[in-house]
Amino acid sequence: MAQPPKPLQDAAPEESVLCELPDWLIPTGRLAMQDHAPTTTYQPPSAGPAAPQATALPPAQRMVDRGVIARGGFGAIHKVFDKALLRTVAMKTLESAKGPTPQSMARFVEEAQITGQLDHPNIVPVHELGVEETGKQFFTMKLVAGETLTAIYKRAPEDSAGFGAHLNRVVEILLRVCDALAFAHSRGVVHRDLKPDNIMVGRFGQVYVMDWGIAQLMVGKRTAGHTVDPVHLARDAGSMDAPGTVVGTFAYMAPEQAYGHNDKIDARTDVFGLGAILYQALTGTPPYRGKTPLEKVMNAQAARITPPQQAVPGRQLPSALCQIALRAMRAAPQDRYQSISEFKEELERFRGGYWFATRIFPPGETVVREGDGADAAYIIVDGTCDVFRVEAGRKVSLRTLGPGDVFGETAIFANRPRTATVVALTPLTVMVVTRESLEEQLAQQSWMGAFVRTLAARFQDQDQQAVTLRATAADAAVVHAALQFVAFHGQGVGNTRVAPWPPLLAQLQVQFGKAEEELAAALAQDSTLTLDRSSNSVVLTSFRPEKP
Ligand SMILES: Nc1ncnc2c1ncn2[C@@H]1O[C@H](COP(=O)(O)OP(=O)(O)O)[C@@H](O)[C@H]1O
Ligand SMILES: [Mg+2]
Repeated sequence: MAQPPKPLQDAAPEESVLCELPDWLIPTGRLAMQDHAPTTTYQPPSAGPAAPQATALPPAQRMVDRGVIARGGFGAIHKVFDKALLRTVAMKTLESAKGPTPQSMARFVEEAQITGQLDHPNIVPVHELGVEETGKQFFTMKLVAGETLTAIYKRAPEDSAGFGAHLNRVVEILLRVCDALAFAHSRGVVHRDLKPDNIMVGRFGQVYVMDWGIAQLMVGKRTAGHTVDPVHLARDAGSMDAPGTVVGTFAYMAPEQAYGHNDKIDARTDVFGLGAILYQALTGTPPYRGKTPLEKVMNAQAARITPPQQAVPGRQLPSALCQIALRAMRAAPQDRYQSISEFKEELERFRGGYWFATRIFPPGETVVREGDGADAAYIIVDGTCDVFRVEAGRKVSLRTLGPGDVFGETAIFANRPRTATVVALTPLTVMVVTRESLEEQLAQQSWMGAFVRTLAARFQDQDQQAVTLRATAADAAVVHAALQFVAFHGQGVGNTRVAPWPPLLAQLQVQFGKAEEELAAALAQDSTLTLDRSSNSVVLTSFRPEKP
């Protein structure tokens, strides 16, 4: 057939294609391209007119067009008002400049049938399949009031703590996508076009896998788990895509798709797609970045993927998540996770471990300061730090912490200011656990949260009492030493005993290493000792009552 590769070059960067490769890329090939319009945001509907007789209308007449949400090469998504049920829904129509082909019509019906039979909370529900009076095919579905994962990716924060929280959110979304796919696979369906554009997240966090337009049935092939109740189509699923027909989106394609090896498509093709979505969350770009679609498809055939960390060298990425993405996108299907549930388990393990941004503090730098408000806790990855506080004007070292130790958590749990200062002794690498993530974890187990918060508050109270006790004990030691000095070196004056302050001060300073003011303050704690500044002496008042 020797078609020139022109349509490949025309394809917009990340759009689904259904094309046959030129001879020099694959032995057979015809070409038919689909190009898509950019996604637009959904606007909330205005109330539509009620029409009691509308229930009698055929579906096509029940629907009032409220505008296009998105338009692609083969069709468009409209927002329509259903006059019978008085609700706004989404309507996908088959329309193209060149008019529908028998193949595109069959595929459109199959998209509706497959989606319609995949009844799952994370798959957009289809309501109706029909033909308009103009002959245009359509199907209606739930209108998802939300945004695509692409839109969420575009808002990814730059700062490491914010980006970490973003990644955690993406993981939660992907776990729901896994649920949808595991279900679809159990019904014998492979999506084949997984990408952020085809995942929608509702305003209340509901996750939907959209656009099953090029989904394929795994007839007679390996499926993940058991195909209990396979999805049914009118035509033989095996005849859907001839070998050499490339179906999917270049930038996210598994090699078996990029080669048009359609008989090799199975659950692991979607595992690859999930890996590609995760890759984009980490790096901001799809796995294949070639300048032209042709370059991309060749990269996809070779599974030429830049490891996430190399793709964004300046960004701190959780290596566990990078490994999951890379393993899901291995070139050979047998090297990937073998099922969606295997992939999901890995994601759950990551989530269980939670991931936090790390920070490095040079020696001498303060990580947290006593008295400050608390917004994060820290887990030491590497290095040591000194924990101290100022008690009665003196620095009191509490402990030295090293790798694996945790600090800064009590102030958050007890919702009080920091009770100690932490300064790096060596270069210190810490994981920063934000207040939000700590609270999120505690909120997940509310009874545990109550225990932890109570323990933290109790610990802080005890700690405060210990500070007071330590200060009292230290003052008592100073008083004791002063009493001994006055007893040995003082002179009786009337009912009192008086010793010079300078030698006593010198001795106390050697003994306790404290400043004069602190020592004077300690002596003031005792009612029998008085520091007389005018005579520069210490006076011990006798306990004996004066003689009458
Ligand atoms: N049910 C729906 N509710 C809201 N928006 C939708 C719905 N279906 C599709 N869209 C929007 O339209 C875009 C294109 O729909 P999709 O089914 O992916 O068509 P295409 O086959 O042209 O890619 C989606 O990315 C999404 O933004
Ligand atoms: Mg789409």
